[in-house]
Amino acid sequence: MSDVLVVTGGAPLQGEVKVRGAKNLVSKAMVATLLGETTSRMFDIPRIRDVEVVRGLLELHGVKVTNGTTDGELVFDPSNVERAGIDEINVHAGSSRIPILLCGPLLHRLGHAFIPELGGCNIGGRPIDFHLEALRRFGAVVEKAPEGLHLSAPDGLHGIKFALDYPSVGATEQILLAAVRAKGVTELSNAAVEPEILDLIALLQKMGAIIKVHTNRVIEIEGVPRLGGFTHRPIPDRIEAASWASAALATKGDILVRGARQADMMTYLNVFRSIGGEFEVDDAPGTGGIRFWHPGGDLRPVALETDVHPGFMTDWQQPLVVALSQANGLSVVHETVYEKRFGYTAALNQMGANIQVFQDCLGGTPCRFGRMGFRHSAVIAGPAKLHAHDLTIPDLRAGFSHLIAALAAEGTSRVHGVELINRGYEDFEAKLTGLGARVSR
Ligand code: EPZ
Repeated sequence: MSDVLVVTGGAPLQGEVKVRGAKNLVSKAMVATLLGETTSRMFDIPRIRDVEVVRGLLELHGVKVTNGTTDGELVFDPSNVERAGIDEINVHAGSSRIPILLCGPLLHRLGHAFIPELGGCNIGGRPIDFHLEALRRFGAVVEKAPEGLHLSAPDGLHGIKFALDYPSVGATEQILLAAVRAKGVTELSNAAVEPEILDLIALLQKMGAIIKVHTNRVIEIEGVPRLGGFTHRPIPDRIEAASWASAALATKGDILVRGARQADMMTYLNVFRSIGGEFEVDDAPGTGGIRFWHPGGDLRPVALETDVHPGFMTDWQQPLVVALSQANGLSVVHETVYEKRFGYTAALNQMGANIQVFQDCLGGTPCRFGRMGFRHSAVIAGPAKLHAHDLTIPDLRAGFSHLIAALAAEGTSRVHGVELINRGYEDFEAKLTGLGARVSR
C-alpha cells in the first residue's frame, strides 16, 4: 500500500472514535510477562506497530503469544524462555526503544541479555545512561559491541539505592522490572510517576511483587524470588485521546473519544478549557468517554510548559500546537522534557502557521535545556489561515500533528510516510474516515 495519504482539509471532524490500552503501558506490560513463571493475559491491546515489535521480541525469546477469546486480548506463556539469535533480534527490534527494557527480565530468566541498537522518534539525544548505570549497580556486566549491548549477571541482581537525575519514565520502568526479582530492597528516588508507571506497578503487584510508592517520588521495591502471571486491563491511551481532542479543536469539530478517562487527563483538560474548547465526561463503565468540541467563536491563547506527571505531557504538545495556531493571540509553549521537539513546526509554518522557536526558557521556570542552544520554546501567533502543502512525517506525534494541520487547512495535501503513525495510533485512517475526513492513499 502507498505510504502517501492524500488529505483534503477544511471540513470539521465529527463523530466518535475509540481508544484502547495505552501504547506506553501495553508495551511495558508485555515485557513484564517475561518475569512471570505462569501465563499472563491482557485485554484491550491496540493493533499498532509497537505491539507487533514487542510480540516479535517475546516470541524470539520463547514466550508463546496467542490471541485470547475477545478482540484485543493476548495470552503470554513464558514457561520456555530461551536465548534468541542476535541477527533475529536486530531484525525484529525495528525502530523501537522498548528492547532496552528487556534487560532486567532477561537477566533474571537467562542470566544474559542482548539489546540491539535502539530506534524511536528523533526528538532529542535520548541517552540511556540512567538505565545502564542502574543496571551496573544492580550487578549487571554491560559490554558494548558494534551490534548492540551484551549484558550478563554472574552473581544475579541485588537491590540498590538509586536516585535519578531526572524522573525518566523509561529508567523508572527499567529499575522496577529489574528490582522486583532482585535480592533485597531497592529504593528509587526522583522516580517518574506517570499513570502508565502506576499501572505497571499495579500489574507487577498482581504478579506477586512488593512495591511501595511513597510521597516525593520515592519508590521502594522489596525483591521476591519468583513471580506469577497477571490478568490485566490496561489504562486507556491518554495521548491518543488528547490527539483527537486537539484535532476536534483545530478543525472546529466535535469528537466523542470513547474509552478516554478523565483522571489521567486532568492537566490536558484544564488547558483545553482555558483555550475555549468544551468537553463533557461520560463515566459509564465500558461505553463511556469524553466528548470534545469547538463551541464556535474565537479560541484563546495559552502559556504552558511540558513536564513530567502531573504536568502537561510532552506528547500532548504537538497536536495542541496546531489548535493554538487557530487561537486569537500569542501562545507560548516551553518544552522541558525533550530538547528537540519543535522540528515539526517548520512544516506548519510552510502551511501558513506563524510559529517562532527560541533557545530561551520562555514563559516558565528555567529548565535543563536553558543556555544550551536548543530551540525548545515556541511562540505561536494566531489565528493563521492554513493552506495545503506536501508533508513528510518526521516522527509519531509530530506526524499526527501534520495530519491534523492538513485536515484543518484549505486544499489538498500529500502526506508522505504515514506508516509511522501506525506505530502508536490504531486504525487511524479508518477512524479519520469515520469522522468525515477526506483522506485516501
Ligand atoms: C517515554 O519515553 C515515552 N515512550 C515517550 O513517548 C514520552 O514522551 C516520554 O516517556 C515522556 O513521557 C515510551 O513510553 C515508549 P524518558 P522515554 O526516559 O521513557 C532523559 C511517544 O511518542 N533521559 O522519560 O524514552 C531523556 O533524554 C513517546 O509515545 C536521560 O537523560 O522518556 C529525556 O530528556 C515519545 N537519560 C528525559 O530524560 C536516560 O537514561 C525523559 O525521557 C533516560 C532519559
